[in-house]
Amino acid sequence: MPANRITHPRAAHGADHGLFTLGEPVTAWTVSTALPVTYEVAFTPQVLSPANPALAQAGGHPGRRLVVVDSHVHELFGDRIHGYFEARGLEHRICVLPAHEQVKTMDSVFRVAEQMDRFGISRRGEPVIAMGGGVLMDVVGLACSLYRRSTPFVRVPTTLIGLVDAGVGAKTGVNFGPHKNRLGTYHPATATLLDPSFLATLDPRHLSNGLAEILKIALIKDRRLFDLLEQRGEALIEQRFQGPAAGGEVLVRAVHGMLQELQPNLWEHRLERSMDYGHSFSPTVEMRALPELLHGEAVCVDMALTTVLAQRRGLVEPGQRDRILALMRTLRLPLWHPLMEPETLGDALTDTIRHRDGRQRLPLPVGIGGGCFADDLTADELGDSADELRELACVTQ
Ligand SMILES: NC(=O)c1ccc[n+]([C@@H]2O[C@H](COP(=O)([O-])OP(=O)(O)OC[C@H]3O[C@@H](n4cnc5c(N)ncnc54)[C@H](O)[C@@H]3O)[C@@H](O)[C@H]2O)c1
Repeated sequence: MPANRITHPRAAHGADHGLFTLGEPVTAWTVSTALPVTYEVAFTPQVLSPANPALAQAGGHPGRRLVVVDSHVHELFGDRIHGYFEARGLEHRICVLPAHEQVKTMDSVFRVAEQMDRFGISRRGEPVIAMGGGVLMDVVGLACSLYRRSTPFVRVPTTLIGLVDAGVGAKTGVNFGPHKNRLGTYHPATATLLDPSFLATLDPRHLSNGLAEILKIALIKDRRLFDLLEQRGEALIEQRFQGPAAGGEVLVRAVHGMLQELQPNLWEHRLERSMDYGHSFSPTVEMRALPELLHGEAVCVDMALTTVLAQRRGLVEPGQRDRILALMRTLRLPLWHPLMEPETLGDALTDTIRHRDGRQRLPLPVGIGGGCFADDLTADELGDSADELRELACVTQ
């Protein structure tokens, strides 16, 4: 046998931990492996109470923690955050980061990475703690996924969108050029601790903003959640999800519904995603309207448009359409925006088709609580639906 000839005694299908080889001598390999992922999402009331060990114990061993906090959250809760780690005897450094849509950029990611570097964070046992809304968590998650290719982190969402959406999935990301969340990774936090008491200080507009993502889940898959929002939506905003109207069932159904959809398709290999409902036109509209529209508001405008479109197709009854639009108004969400004109909607659809690998895969509601996907939307149908929505939105203003 020549000295440089490489053979493998078990070079065959799956014989070597799944390594598939070709040729004799072996000259080609196919590596196939799977990455098992486990992460925890748990309601954790009073997460900053010194008596509550959950945050100190989440995802790591005792030692040190780098805590990255949204600057607004730090103003409100900084003393309690510091007091918590002091009381739990955890050495910690707090990094305060401004977090809103216009600073959802790689510059913010680099700021976090720099802090991780200065902190001398260990590779596995010192999860970064991200406390804030969707922007803060997306930025910190991206920094953690990049730093040493993967550093663990723990999320403590402090907004409604954070609690029911941005805090529970696997995606990280920042805006890039004119595009929403165009740079990002899949890097779920080891643990997410959900404490609705943070909502007590949230601006009502941001509560409505989060209710848009809850309404999305209701419309596309959970009729009971829709009924709950009709019955309690207004009170939930008034009472900021605190007290008797703390919204337990609404929040639990929203998180459960979201995770039911995410778990079987966490890496988004399947591009027909019902959780993309309301996210077909909204990314372009949101970015072009910045800073006027919040994320959930843009999602709601998209859902209003596709509700009208679905009614015109006979998927939703006129009475159901009216209930849906009425609920959006009850939740203090916009139904319409001037950017819903042919050029922006056309550009949005083009970008979404690219994002969905060449097909529309447009989630549409079926009745209330069901959904389907369409691939045959035309510019005319889109324009006519937008015209009809504009009239309906004016009538119901
Ligand atoms: N990764 C995902 O899967 C995912 C899912 C949905 C949304 N998102 C992203 O989330 C972002 C929207 O998140 P958001 O709505 O939380 O916005 P946000 O992070 O900008 O927070 C909204 C505002 O609330 C302030 N704030 C945060 N907590 C507060 C509190 N407890 N009290 C008072 N003020 C508080 C923030 O400083 C900010 O001004 C978007 O960028 C969106 O793309 C990501």
